[in-house]
Amino acid sequence: MVKGDLSAILGDCSGERGDLIPVLQKAQDLLGFIQPDAVRAISRRLKISENEIYGVATFYAQFRFHPPGKHHIKVCLGTACHVKGGEQVLATTRERLGIDTGETTADGAYDLERVACLGCCALAPVVQVDDKIYSQVSVIKIQGILDEQKSD
Ligand code: FES
Repeated sequence: MVKGDLSAILGDCSGERGDLIPVLQKAQDLLGFIQPDAVRAISRRLKISENEIYGVATFYAQFRFHPPGKHHIKVCLGTACHVKGGEQVLATTRERLGIDTGETTADGAYDLERVACLGCCALAPVVQVDDKIYSQVSVIKIQGILDEQKSD
């Protein structure tokens, strides 16, 4: 962890409980994910227990507790994608990668995120791998996308 920089973030905040979310956002921007020693330092500065910090942070999909993977897979579960089978696509992706959302594969190749809308609902259900958008993704199609990724 880049302790000096986290200290600067903690030093800049007022130390109020209301600083928790912005401080977590800045810590994640700095470190790539919320590391245990960052939670410890935030806990001391804001006088909020580590358990409470984890409780709050896990409520928000934006916070990660694992290092990001080399490739980022986002499965959309916004209304349009949900209605058209996004849940099944996500379940298949989780099963194939052996991870849950917010996690990274053991080899560090992929992380998986569930998102609320990728802004292209007409193409639902949608999956994004790095910068590439895949449209009308079915359970069969996501398996092909993941196979294609592995052979890259
Ligand atoms: S709901 Fe999935 S792209 Fe909008």
